[in-house]
Amino acid sequence: MPWPPIQKETPTISSLIPPDLYHPPPLTHYWVYLLSLVFVSLLIKHWDTPAFSFTHLFLHHHARIVGRLWLTVHAFGLRFASHPFNLNRFMQEKQSQAVSGPNSRRDFIKQTATVAATVATVNMFKTPVYGQNKAPSTGRVIGANDRITVGFIGVGGQGMAHVRSQKNDAAANNVELVATCDVWKNRVASSKAYIGGKCEGYDDYRKLLERKDIDAVTIATVDHWHTKCSLDAIQTGKHVYVEKPMTRYLGEAFQIHDAVKNSKTVFQVGSQGCSDAKWHKAAEMIKAGKIGQMVMAQGSYPRNNPKGEWNYNIDPQAKAENLDWKNWLGPVSKKIPFNADHYFRWRKYYPYCGGLLGDLFPHRLHPYMLASGNPEYPTRVVSIATKRVHSDKNTPGTPERDVPEHVELLAEFPSGLTLVMISSTVCESGLIEQINGHKGTLYMSGNRVELKPERQFAEEVEPETISGIKPGEDVAVHEKNWFDCIRDGKAPNANIDLATKVQTVISLGEMSERLGVACKFDPKTRKITTGDGKVMPVTELKPITYGWTDLS
Ligand SMILES: NC(=O)c1ccc[n+]([C@@H]2O[C@H](COP(=O)([O-])OP(=O)(O)OC[C@H]3O[C@@H](n4cnc5c(N)ncnc54)[C@H](O)[C@@H]3O)[C@@H](O)[C@H]2O)c1
Repeated sequence: MPWPPIQKETPTISSLIPPDLYHPPPLTHYWVYLLSLVFVSLLIKHWDTPAFSFTHLFLHHHARIVGRLWLTVHAFGLRFASHPFNLNRFMQEKQSQAVSGPNSRRDFIKQTATVAATVATVNMFKTPVYGQNKAPSTGRVIGANDRITVGFIGVGGQGMAHVRSQKNDAAANNVELVATCDVWKNRVASSKAYIGGKCEGYDDYRKLLERKDIDAVTIATVDHWHTKCSLDAIQTGKHVYVEKPMTRYLGEAFQIHDAVKNSKTVFQVGSQGCSDAKWHKAAEMIKAGKIGQMVMAQGSYPRNNPKGEWNYNIDPQAKAENLDWKNWLGPVSKKIPFNADHYFRWRKYYPYCGGLLGDLFPHRLHPYMLASGNPEYPTRVVSIATKRVHSDKNTPGTPERDVPEHVELLAEFPSGLTLVMISSTVCESGLIEQINGHKGTLYMSGNRVELKPERQFAEEVEPETISGIKPGEDVAVHEKNWFDCIRDGKAPNANIDLATKVQTVISLGEMSERLGVACKFDPKTRKITTGDGKVMPVTELKPITYGWTDLS
């Protein structure tokens, strides 16, 4: 057969594998090697028993021959086993035990890609600070009347909003603010002074986490630190409130998900919209069947800033001398020298965030998915985005952003619900907030929810308007929900199950936009694929992560 084969139709990746790679040597070689290992181990174990005396004598007198023979077998075995193809094939066979049916060449390519992606993800976390391979410590059991001690990691704009709010409500929530941490010394000093009392300041969050008297941490660092800080906090038995987006990348979301599930940590993501009661009211109405089968939902978070959103003021006091820039960069691959524009305006640059998708989308995605009554992983996500206004040109001296100025996202869920979501920094008129069912539509605005029947179901569905719903969207209410759950063990409003599903939509949206593809997701395998198998081969995508491009 000629190689490459003559193509009659669109080539698939699987058809491009050379046939000799497709027919590997049989795995029996591998098993022979393993058996020889077992045999020699037995020999060593029973070295001095009578049954092995003959072997003993033989080995003693022919040590050189045996040694050579052993080395040869060993070398053959190692070379065979460590050949990438055989390693992959071994892992492929392991995986296929759980999946029925013979493996096709396409399966092989997909699984090889999975192994590579898994290795990449694992490598990201291969030097855990607090022994993330060990069982997490368990924190103190907190009773209804116990005071909760809190530390703050990252005390910039939002971190200080938490400090202020938790200080205001300290008595009502029965909490004590005892520690603060930031990589910029000035912020450590100012937050410590603001909190007062016995509050200690740290420039390394690991020192804060070492304190056994701290029960809970509020994490409001730049996005690329959310995962590491959360994992380390969980490992040391702390309860965690981490700002949105939960993580920078998708693989990290599953790391946190699994860590939370294996711990007693009460974990809340800082999408305070989840504690706005109107979304819970909408969920209740949807679960009661008031709009029938859900069909579609639409929402938006639009802004318009002629000077370029997120071109915040640059404080000249922030300098390489008083700010641990290396630590700020953390897991980011591209290690640039200290850059004040990046430090203060990081939302414009891909290595540190996903732009609108990470910044504003979570504020709508969390509540909408909560309101669906049964949050689901998406089956498919598509996103398109533009950057045509070039709004940064109106702020002298700042580079143009990496991230788009306007983003639109479409997500499809297994129940049949489709979601349209828009966010912008250059166009403030958004969409009406609504969830449409087969029988009626829910409209959400301010503190009210309105149900309007579809014309065809006017006899069956009663129109309803519920107004004055409280509480509204408020960070303090969301924090209180976290403290309450730490005491009563309930799941917080923006809990890990919801947050991981939201992060999947966000990360698939980023991949879709940056790669120009539609992303499909399988929650059982956590794999992302693209296309429908006809136009393009169903190829597993290597998830975007640190070091994926120059911009990560
Ligand atoms: N829920 C909301 O409404 C809301 C609003 C604004 C921001 N946020 C989120 O809060 C987070 C922070 O945003 P911001 O506007 O306050 O940013 P910011 O840049 O003002 O503050 C981040 C702070 O974290 C510090 N930091 C970075 N790495 C650190 C580390 N390893 N250890 C300790 N400190 C570290 C920085 O020095 C900085 O002071 C972001 O994830 C953002 O998306 C949420």
